[in-house]
Amino acid sequence: MDARVLQIEGVRHRYGALTAVDGVDLRVAPGECVALLGPNGAGKTTLIGLATGLLAAQEGRVRVCGGDPRSAATRRHLGVVQQTMGFPTTLTVAELVRGAAVRAGRPAAAAGPVLAEVGITDLARRRSAKLSGGQRQRVALAMALVGDPDLLLLDEPTAGLDVAARRTFWQVLARRRDAGVGILLTTHILEEAASTADRVVVLHRGRVVAEDSPGGLSARLADRTLTARSGVDVVVLRGLPGVLTAVRDGERVRVTSAEPERVLRAWLPLDDALGELRVEGAGLEQALFALTDDRSERDDETMGVPA
Ligand SMILES: Nc1ncnc2c1ncn2[C@@H]1O[C@H](COP(=O)(O)OP(=O)(O)OP(=O)(O)O)[C@@H](O)[C@H]1O
Ligand SMILES: [Mg+2]
Repeated sequence: MDARVLQIEGVRHRYGALTAVDGVDLRVAPGECVALLGPNGAGKTTLIGLATGLLAAQEGRVRVCGGDPRSAATRRHLGVVQQTMGFPTTLTVAELVRGAAVRAGRPAAAAGPVLAEVGITDLARRRSAKLSGGQRQRVALAMALVGDPDLLLLDEPTAGLDVAARRTFWQVLARRRDAGVGILLTTHILEEAASTADRVVVLHRGRVVAEDSPGGLSARLADRTLTARSGVDVVVLRGLPGVLTAVRDGERVRVTSAEPERVLRAWLPLDDALGELRVEGAGLEQALFALTDDRSERDDETMGVPA
Protein backbone atom coordinates (compact mmCIF):
# COMPACT_ATOMS: atom_id res chain seq x y z
CA MET A 1 0.00 0.00 0.00
CA ASP A 2 1.07 3.54 -0.62
CA ALA A 3 2.72 5.36 2.28
CA ARG A 4 0.72 8.51 1.49
CA VAL A 5 -2.71 9.15 2.89
CA LEU A 6 -3.42 11.51 0.00
CA GLN A 7 -1.98 11.31 -3.48
CA ILE A 8 -3.12 13.71 -6.19
CA GLU A 9 -1.46 13.32 -9.57
CA GLY A 10 -1.91 15.51 -12.62
CA VAL A 11 -5.45 16.44 -11.69
CA ARG A 12 -7.52 18.82 -13.82
CA HIS A 13 -11.06 20.01 -13.27
CA ARG A 14 -13.12 22.30 -15.48
CA TYR A 15 -16.44 24.01 -14.92
CA GLY A 16 -17.48 24.59 -18.53
CA ALA A 17 -14.87 26.84 -20.09
CA LEU A 18 -13.23 27.64 -16.74
CA THR A 19 -10.32 25.45 -15.64
CA ALA A 20 -10.50 25.59 -11.83
CA VAL A 21 -7.76 23.01 -11.15
CA ASP A 22 -5.11 22.89 -13.82
CA GLY A 23 -2.72 19.97 -13.47
CA VAL A 24 -2.04 19.68 -9.73
CA ASP A 25 0.25 17.19 -7.97
CA LEU A 26 -0.06 17.06 -4.20
CA ARG A 27 0.82 14.46 -1.60
CA VAL A 28 0.16 14.23 2.12
CA ALA A 29 1.99 11.71 4.30
CA PRO A 30 0.67 10.27 7.58
CA GLY A 31 1.40 12.70 10.41
CA GLU A 32 1.88 15.61 8.03
CA CYS A 33 -0.07 18.88 8.05
CA VAL A 34 -0.24 20.68 4.71
CA ALA A 35 -1.78 24.14 4.37
CA LEU A 36 -3.32 25.05 1.03
CA LEU A 37 -3.21 28.79 0.48
CA GLY A 38 -4.25 31.03 -2.38
CA PRO A 39 -6.57 33.91 -3.22
CA ASN A 40 -10.35 33.63 -3.67
CA GLY A 41 -11.13 31.52 -6.70
CA ALA A 42 -7.67 29.88 -6.81
CA GLY A 43 -9.23 26.41 -6.88
CA LYS A 44 -8.76 25.33 -3.25
CA THR A 45 -12.32 24.19 -2.62
CA THR A 46 -12.41 22.42 -5.98
CA LEU A 47 -9.21 20.56 -5.09
CA ILE A 48 -10.60 19.61 -1.66
CA GLY A 49 -13.79 18.47 -3.40
CA LEU A 50 -11.72 16.19 -5.63
CA ALA A 51 -9.85 14.78 -2.63
CA THR A 52 -13.08 14.08 -0.73
CA GLY A 53 -14.61 12.36 -3.75
CA LEU A 54 -17.41 14.92 -3.95
CA LEU A 55 -16.12 15.75 -7.43
CA ALA A 56 -14.77 13.19 -9.89
CA ALA A 57 -11.39 14.09 -11.42
CA GLN A 58 -11.86 14.75 -15.12
CA GLU A 59 -8.15 14.15 -15.65
CA GLY A 60 -5.47 12.66 -13.44
CA ARG A 61 -5.70 10.50 -10.35
CA VAL A 62 -6.77 10.93 -6.72
CA ARG A 63 -5.99 8.30 -4.09
CA VAL A 64 -6.88 8.32 -0.39
CA CYS A 65 -5.05 5.66 1.61
CA GLY A 66 -4.48 3.91 -1.70
CA GLY A 67 -8.18 3.84 -2.67
CA ASP A 68 -10.64 5.88 -4.71
CA PRO A 69 -12.30 8.54 -2.51
CA ARG A 70 -15.51 8.03 -4.49
CA SER A 71 -15.90 4.58 -2.94
CA ALA A 72 -17.67 4.29 0.41
CA ALA A 73 -14.98 1.99 1.82
CA THR A 74 -12.23 4.55 1.15
CA ARG A 75 -14.32 7.43 2.46
CA ARG A 76 -14.22 5.79 5.91
CA HIS A 77 -10.59 6.94 6.15
CA LEU A 78 -11.70 10.55 5.70
CA GLY A 79 -12.78 13.33 8.01
CA VAL A 80 -14.11 16.34 6.12
CA VAL A 81 -15.07 19.90 6.94
CA GLN A 82 -16.56 21.63 3.91
CA GLN A 83 -16.41 25.37 3.36
CA THR A 84 -20.19 25.57 3.33
CA MET A 85 -21.84 22.88 5.36
CA GLY A 86 -25.52 22.53 6.10
CA PHE A 87 -26.87 20.51 9.03
CA PRO A 88 -30.42 19.21 9.51
CA THR A 89 -31.84 22.00 11.67
CA THR A 90 -33.91 19.86 14.07
CA LEU A 91 -31.05 17.68 15.32
CA THR A 92 -29.02 18.48 18.41
CA VAL A 93 -25.24 18.73 18.39
CA ALA A 94 -24.92 15.37 20.20
CA GLU A 95 -27.23 13.73 17.65
CA LEU A 96 -25.25 15.16 14.74
CA VAL A 97 -21.91 13.93 16.10
CA ARG A 98 -23.33 10.53 17.10
CA GLY A 99 -24.76 10.16 13.61
CA ALA A 100 -21.39 10.98 12.08
CA ALA A 101 -19.76 8.36 14.33
CA VAL A 102 -22.18 5.65 13.25
CA ARG A 103 -21.85 6.54 9.55
CA ALA A 104 -18.09 6.15 9.96
CA GLY A 105 -18.54 2.69 11.48
CA ARG A 106 -17.84 3.77 15.07
CA PRO A 107 -20.02 3.46 18.17
CA ALA A 108 -22.33 6.41 18.90
CA ALA A 109 -20.62 6.69 22.29
CA ALA A 110 -17.49 7.94 20.52
CA ALA A 111 -19.26 11.33 20.30
CA GLY A 112 -18.79 12.26 23.99
CA PRO A 113 -14.98 12.35 24.08
CA VAL A 114 -14.83 14.22 20.77
CA LEU A 115 -17.26 16.90 22.00
CA ALA A 116 -14.92 17.35 24.96
CA GLU A 117 -11.84 17.37 22.72
CA VAL A 118 -13.28 20.19 20.61
CA GLY A 119 -14.61 22.01 23.70
CA ILE A 120 -18.35 21.90 22.90
CA THR A 121 -19.68 19.53 25.57
CA ASP A 122 -21.91 22.36 26.81
CA LEU A 123 -23.55 22.58 23.37
CA ALA A 124 -24.47 18.87 23.22
CA ARG A 125 -28.22 19.42 23.66
CA ARG A 126 -28.51 22.52 21.50
CA ARG A 127 -30.40 22.23 18.21
CA SER A 128 -28.22 23.00 15.21
CA ALA A 129 -30.57 25.77 14.02
CA LYS A 130 -29.63 27.72 17.15
CA LEU A 131 -25.86 27.54 16.73
CA SER A 132 -23.72 30.58 15.98
CA GLY A 133 -21.37 30.53 12.99
CA GLY A 134 -18.30 29.70 15.06
CA GLN A 135 -20.20 27.03 17.01
CA ARG A 136 -21.23 25.39 13.73
CA GLN A 137 -17.58 25.27 12.66
CA ARG A 138 -16.69 23.48 15.88
CA VAL A 139 -19.52 20.99 15.44
CA ALA A 140 -18.32 20.36 11.88
CA LEU A 141 -14.83 19.66 13.21
CA ALA A 142 -16.20 17.25 15.82
CA MET A 143 -18.13 15.42 13.09
CA ALA A 144 -14.93 15.16 11.03
CA LEU A 145 -12.92 13.81 13.96
CA VAL A 146 -15.39 11.33 15.42
CA GLY A 147 -14.77 8.69 12.75
CA ASP A 148 -11.10 8.50 13.78
CA PRO A 149 -9.93 9.38 10.25
CA ASP A 150 -6.49 8.78 8.72
CA LEU A 151 -6.86 11.91 6.60
CA LEU A 152 -8.52 15.20 7.52
CA LEU A 153 -9.63 17.48 4.67
CA LEU A 154 -10.62 20.84 6.12
CA ASP A 155 -11.80 23.73 3.96
CA GLU A 156 -11.40 26.99 5.91
CA PRO A 157 -12.04 25.27 9.23
CA THR A 158 -11.10 28.32 11.31
CA ALA A 159 -13.45 30.74 9.52
CA GLY A 160 -15.56 32.49 12.15
CA LEU A 161 -13.73 31.06 15.17
CA ASP A 162 -12.89 33.39 18.05
CA VAL A 163 -9.39 33.55 19.54
CA ALA A 164 -9.96 30.85 22.17
CA ALA A 165 -11.68 28.49 19.73
CA ARG A 166 -8.87 29.02 17.26
CA ARG A 167 -6.27 28.06 19.85
CA THR A 168 -8.24 24.93 20.78
CA PHE A 169 -8.59 24.09 17.10
CA TRP A 170 -4.84 24.16 16.43
CA GLN A 171 -4.12 22.18 19.61
CA VAL A 172 -6.61 19.50 18.57
CA LEU A 173 -5.09 19.40 15.10
CA ALA A 174 -1.52 19.16 16.38
CA ARG A 175 -2.48 16.22 18.63
CA ARG A 176 -4.15 14.35 15.79
CA ARG A 177 -1.20 15.02 13.52
CA ASP A 178 1.22 13.76 16.16
CA ALA A 179 -0.92 10.62 16.38
CA GLY A 180 -0.24 10.01 12.66
CA VAL A 181 -3.24 11.66 10.96
CA GLY A 182 -2.52 13.40 7.66
CA ILE A 183 -4.10 16.85 7.32
CA LEU A 184 -4.83 19.05 4.32
CA LEU A 185 -6.49 22.34 5.18
CA THR A 186 -7.20 25.62 3.45
CA THR A 187 -6.98 28.94 5.20
CA HIS A 188 -6.58 32.64 4.57
CA ILE A 189 -4.92 33.20 7.94
CA LEU A 190 -1.32 32.79 6.96
CA GLU A 191 0.49 33.29 10.23
CA GLU A 192 -1.66 30.57 11.76
CA ALA A 193 -0.82 28.19 8.98
CA ALA A 194 2.85 29.01 9.50
CA SER A 195 2.75 27.96 13.13
CA THR A 196 1.20 24.53 12.54
CA ALA A 197 1.69 23.40 8.94
CA ASP A 198 4.72 21.32 7.99
CA ARG A 199 4.31 22.40 4.41
CA VAL A 200 2.57 25.21 2.55
CA VAL A 201 1.23 24.76 -0.96
CA VAL A 202 0.26 27.95 -2.79
CA LEU A 203 -2.41 27.62 -5.45
CA HIS A 204 -3.03 30.34 -8.02
CA ARG A 205 -5.43 30.02 -10.93
CA GLY A 206 -5.63 26.29 -10.40
CA ARG A 207 -1.89 25.70 -10.39
CA VAL A 208 0.66 25.11 -7.66
CA VAL A 209 2.96 28.15 -7.77
CA ALA A 210 4.98 27.34 -4.65
CA GLU A 211 5.50 24.51 -2.20
CA ASP A 212 7.79 24.79 0.81
CA SER A 213 7.99 24.88 4.60
CA PRO A 214 6.34 28.06 5.95
CA GLY A 215 9.73 29.50 6.90
CA GLY A 216 11.32 28.42 3.64
CA LEU A 217 8.59 30.07 1.64
CA SER A 218 8.99 33.46 3.25
CA ALA A 219 12.78 33.24 3.28
CA ARG A 220 12.91 32.28 -0.39
CA LEU A 221 10.76 35.16 -1.49
CA ALA A 222 11.07 37.84 1.05
CA ASP A 223 13.46 40.68 0.54
CA ARG A 224 14.51 42.07 3.90
CA THR A 225 14.29 45.75 4.65
CA LEU A 226 17.16 47.35 6.59
CA THR A 227 16.58 50.80 8.02
CA ALA A 228 19.20 52.83 9.90
CA ARG A 229 20.32 56.35 10.71
CA SER A 230 23.31 56.74 8.42
CA GLY A 231 25.16 59.50 6.57
CA VAL A 232 26.33 57.27 3.73
CA ASP A 233 25.13 58.49 0.32
CA VAL A 234 22.41 56.27 -1.14
CA VAL A 235 24.32 56.19 -4.43
CA VAL A 236 27.20 54.53 -2.56
CA LEU A 237 24.80 52.16 -0.81
CA ARG A 238 23.25 51.09 -4.11
CA GLY A 239 26.73 50.00 -5.22
CA LEU A 240 27.28 47.69 -2.22
CA PRO A 241 27.08 43.92 -2.74
CA GLY A 242 23.59 42.55 -2.14
CA VAL A 243 21.74 45.88 -2.21
CA LEU A 244 18.57 45.93 -4.30
CA THR A 245 17.30 49.43 -3.51
CA ALA A 246 18.37 52.29 -1.25
CA VAL A 247 16.24 55.32 -0.42
CA ARG A 248 16.90 58.23 1.94
CA ASP A 249 14.23 59.55 4.29
CA GLY A 250 15.74 62.44 6.24
CA GLU A 251 18.45 61.07 8.53
CA ARG A 252 17.36 57.51 7.88
CA VAL A 253 18.08 55.22 4.98
CA ARG A 254 15.95 52.29 3.85
CA VAL A 255 17.71 49.47 2.01
CA THR A 256 16.15 46.29 0.61
CA SER A 257 18.12 43.11 0.06
CA ALA A 258 17.77 39.35 -0.08
CA GLU A 259 21.13 39.14 1.77
CA PRO A 260 21.00 41.60 4.69
CA GLU A 261 24.10 40.16 6.41
CA ARG A 262 26.18 40.75 3.30
CA VAL A 263 24.93 44.32 3.04
CA LEU A 264 25.73 45.02 6.69
CA ARG A 265 29.29 43.73 6.39
CA ALA A 266 29.92 46.30 3.67
CA TRP A 267 27.83 49.11 5.17
CA LEU A 268 29.15 49.15 8.76
CA PRO A 269 32.83 49.93 7.91
CA LEU A 270 31.66 52.99 5.93
CA ASP A 271 29.79 54.58 8.85
CA ASP A 272 31.03 54.67 12.45
CA ALA A 273 27.92 56.61 13.45
CA LEU A 274 25.36 54.17 12.00
CA GLY A 275 22.54 53.75 14.50
CA GLU A 276 18.95 52.63 15.13
CA LEU A 277 19.41 49.67 12.80
CA ARG A 278 16.35 47.54 12.09
CA VAL A 279 16.10 44.50 9.87
CA GLU A 280 12.65 43.23 9.02
CA GLY A 281 11.53 40.20 7.07
CA ALA A 282 8.59 40.34 4.72
CA GLY A 283 6.84 37.42 6.37
CA LEU A 284 4.56 34.82 4.89
CA GLU A 285 1.71 37.20 4.17
CA GLN A 286 3.80 39.36 1.84
CA ALA A 287 5.44 36.31 0.30
CA LEU A 288 2.01 34.94 -0.60
CA PHE A 289 0.87 38.27 -1.95
CA ALA A 290 3.98 38.49 -4.15
CA LEU A 291 3.33 35.00 -5.50
CA THR A 292 -0.28 35.54 -6.40
CA ASP A 293 -0.21 39.18 -7.47
CA ASP A 294 -1.25 39.22 -11.10
CA ARG A 295 0.45 42.56 -11.71
CA SER A 296 3.87 40.97 -11.17
CA GLU A 297 3.04 38.17 -13.57
CA ARG A 298 4.80 38.11 -16.91
CA ASP A 299 2.84 35.27 -18.43
CA ASP A 300 1.30 32.03 -17.28
CA GLU A 301 4.40 29.98 -17.96
CA THR A 302 6.78 32.13 -15.92
CA MET A 303 4.87 32.06 -12.65
CA GLY A 304 7.59 29.89 -11.11
CA VAL A 305 9.30 30.79 -7.89
CA PRO A 306 12.90 31.93 -8.00
CA ALA A 307 15.05 29.25 -6.40
N1 LIG B 1 -19.88 24.69 -9.26
C1 LIG B 1 -19.20 25.57 -9.97
N2 LIG B 1 -19.57 25.92 -11.22
C2 LIG B 1 -18.87 26.80 -11.96
N3 LIG B 1 -17.74 27.41 -11.54
C3 LIG B 1 -17.31 27.11 -10.31
C4 LIG B 1 -18.01 26.19 -9.46
N4 LIG B 1 -17.33 26.09 -8.29
C5 LIG B 1 -16.28 26.93 -8.41
N5 LIG B 1 -16.24 27.53 -9.60
C6 LIG B 1 -15.20 28.47 -10.09
O1 LIG B 1 -13.95 27.79 -10.03
C7 LIG B 1 -12.92 28.64 -9.55
C8 LIG B 1 -12.30 28.03 -8.31
O2 LIG B 1 -13.24 28.04 -7.28
P1 LIG B 1 -12.93 27.46 -5.82
O3 LIG B 1 -14.20 27.50 -5.05
O4 LIG B 1 -12.26 26.15 -5.98
O5 LIG B 1 -11.89 28.55 -5.28
P2 LIG B 1 -11.27 28.74 -3.80
O6 LIG B 1 -9.81 28.78 -3.96
O7 LIG B 1 -11.84 27.74 -2.88
O8 LIG B 1 -11.77 30.20 -3.40
P3 LIG B 1 -12.20 30.80 -1.95
O9 LIG B 1 -10.93 31.25 -1.30
O10 LIG B 1 -13.06 31.96 -2.32
O11 LIG B 1 -12.93 29.76 -1.19
C9 LIG B 1 -13.57 29.99 -9.32
O12 LIG B 1 -13.31 30.80 -10.45
C10 LIG B 1 -15.05 29.67 -9.20
O13 LIG B 1 -15.82 30.75 -9.66
MG1 LIG C 1 -12.96 27.87 -1.20
